Amino acid sequence: MRNSIQKIFKKQYKTINTDSFLLRIKATIIGEGMLHEGNIYLMDYAIQNMPDNGIVFEIGSYAGLSTNVMLHLLEKHRKKHLFVGCDAWIYEGFKDHTGIIEEHIDGKPNVARKEYVAYIKNAFVNAAKLLHPNAKPHTCHLPSDAFFDTWNTTNKFTDVFDRTFSIQQEISFSYIDGDHSYEQTKKDFENVDSKLKLNGFILLDDSAKHLNFGSSDFIQEIKQNDRYRIIDHNPNYLIQKIK
Ligand SMILES: C[S@@+](CC[C@H](N)C(=O)[O-])C[C@H]1O[C@@H](n2cnc3c(N)ncnc32)[C@H](O)[C@@H]1O
Repeated sequence: MRNSIQKIFKKQYKTINTDSFLLRIKATIIGEGMLHEGNIYLMDYAIQNMPDNGIVFEIGSYAGLSTNVMLHLLEKHRKKHLFVGCDAWIYEGFKDHTGIIEEHIDGKPNVARKEYVAYIKNAFVNAAKLLHPNAKPHTCHLPSDAFFDTWNTTNKFTDVFDRTFSIQQEISFSYIDGDHSYEQTKKDFENVDSKLKLNGFILLDDSAKHLNFGSSDFIQEIKQNDRYRIIDHNPNYLIQKIK
């Protein structure tokens, strides 16, 4: 009995617990529940081993927790890769899937969704300015499909810091953490795959076997895809393009 209780509470995944900045960051940036500690371990692996001359690309930035973790790891491992990302900054209400879209956030009729997402986006901007003032991310306020449409057409972007830029390199590592439906996960994967360098990595959030998300259904398909190999699951999956 004691053993099985210990097993339940024992961490079943690998973590990085010697980096003071990473130990502190969840108390600094909004969104603690959104970033699994095991993902940080996999980001660290991907950033150390990703191909050179490419970008790091994130879908789904929220208030900047994962963004600043990756920016920190880039700095720590002396990687010069440009950091690019996108977020639609939409509020995902508990009842949205039923077709009832309330104008306010869950449980607070006097707080408008619009105000809430503006607060989250502002938190993203402030966190990056505070923690990485010299390496601010090129994150754009765009849904992922629109981001790739722009990349494939004009290739002219404006990020949330009002800087204009274009992308001159393919992707070395991508963290996909936007809309977790099966359909959008598949689309995000296909778009990233079309720009991913050989030996580049993708970390798919909420793809762990035990989860009930489209992203965890989608990863089952990747297991049959011979162009990709699974590097690790901790518990979410890190995969590498090998063909
Ligand atoms: C789970 S949160 C991301 C958390 C963040 N990666 C972190 O760990 O701090 C998901 C984010 O995806 C965004 N999102 C939802 N659908 C999207 C889409 N189609 N394209 C881009 N972002 C999207 C939401 O606005 C939300 O901020």
